[in-house]
Amino acid sequence: MSPDILRGNRLASMDDEALRITSSIGSDERIKDKVVYVNMAHVNSLLASGAIEKAVAEKMLSGLRDALSGYELDYRLEDVHMSLEAYLTSRIGQEAGFLGLGKSRNDQVATALRLQTREELLKTAGLLISLVKALAKAAESESKTFFLAMTHLQPAQPSTAAHWLLSYAEALLMDIERIKLAFRTANLSPMGAAAASGSTVPIDRFEVAELLGFDGLVENTVYAVSARDFLVDAIYALSSIAVNLSKLSADIVAYMALGLIDLDDRFLSTSSIMPQKRNPVVAEIVRAKAATVAAALIGAIETLRGLNESYNLDLQEITPKAWQAFDEVNSMLSVTASMVASIRFNQTAALELANKYLVVASDIAEHISLKHGVPFREAHHIVGEAIKGHEGGEDFMQALVNALKKRGIHESTDELRAVLDPAKAVEARVTVGGPHPKEALRQANRVLSECVKAESWVNDNLSKFKKAYDKLANRGW
Ligand code: ARG
Repeated sequence: MSPDILRGNRLASMDDEALRITSSIGSDERIKDKVVYVNMAHVNSLLASGAIEKAVAEKMLSGLRDALSGYELDYRLEDVHMSLEAYLTSRIGQEAGFLGLGKSRNDQVATALRLQTREELLKTAGLLISLVKALAKAAESESKTFFLAMTHLQPAQPSTAAHWLLSYAEALLMDIERIKLAFRTANLSPMGAAAASGSTVPIDRFEVAELLGFDGLVENTVYAVSARDFLVDAIYALSSIAVNLSKLSADIVAYMALGLIDLDDRFLSTSSIMPQKRNPVVAEIVRAKAATVAAALIGAIETLRGLNESYNLDLQEITPKAWQAFDEVNSMLSVTASMVASIRFNQTAALELANKYLVVASDIAEHISLKHGVPFREAHHIVGEAIKGHEGGEDFMQALVNALKKRGIHESTDELRAVLDPAKAVEARVTVGGPHPKEALRQANRVLSECVKAESWVNDNLSKFKKAYDKLANRGW
């Protein structure tokens, strides 16, 4: 296709590197179909407003329908929008020129980006839900498995493996809320804003919005063409997911090093020199990839900072950052879901560390405070003193009994022995949201029912959009 087909767009004298650097073709592939649908809706509104004849509209629509099976993107034409117009011109002749009536690439690209973003968000939500389900299911099977609650990467309190898994499930459920918010800010139509202040063509903006399955309008036409805040919202939601996955990976790396968990060989690699090594390389890469996503977020915000209203080509630079963030997070999500399903917990190692680090210390202090009416701070002090120089076990218990006796408090070693048992300490926990096996199962159950709701949110929207696109493509007058 010759770029001459669209006289007057790119300057004939433009340098080839200048053409390349100002072209958005590299990130336009992803909105190719969306641009066609936007144009279909636009043709519809041109006809409805009496701006074009029915025969012209039909010709345009049939050419656009063909474009859905593919059209060439040419960087010399700058972008997907000019490429589509060139394609239509080559199909139906000069009447394709009506496509530009009452719209600009500025409102068109904003619209296509919003159509794509809402869909990308649904796709990521689907992968996110699968991971949350994998975490909740693993939690169900590990509801009784003794594990450690860590602080400062040190064994801190007795817990269950389920409880650790569910901490991520709940964090990621919050990310679904962030995706929903980004979806809401994206799902509005800028069409009709034209370059910046609308046009003299009596286009029904509401009808175009409805045809494209939007929830409503981005009303102010200047805001409509200059806004990329919806991409920032989307990348923020992605960043939050990435940060959670990064933390989960950091835990996997650390817990594996401590011998608390093991992973399937599918997620490990060995060393080129040390044949004994089983390195958690997948988790390490997931941990690092969060940086790429965060960089996309900062990059998007920094690109917007200091821009003047309304459209500037700077905005074009945000698009590839958003697509990259989606791609990274999608692959992080799917590999993490399989990796999580392969985690094996080493309860014996967890119990060993529990005893070594006396993770029931806070339980003992609580026991003394509750049973003998000692202020907790004092009980904390007594336990702290008894621990010093004692390895735990019988030795520690004797020191504790003596320390209590000095204060006139009589405590039996039998009763203390029960409190000192880490496994029993989990059973003794009464906290809502805590690690008690029954409470963990209740949480897993709630997480799974939230997943069902989120799944239907995704599917309802996907089918709504599919219906809108099918209707647009099959419309005749
Ligand atoms: N390719 C541009 C983008 O992705 C849209 C075209 C706007 N160009 C312009 N010169 N007004 O944002």
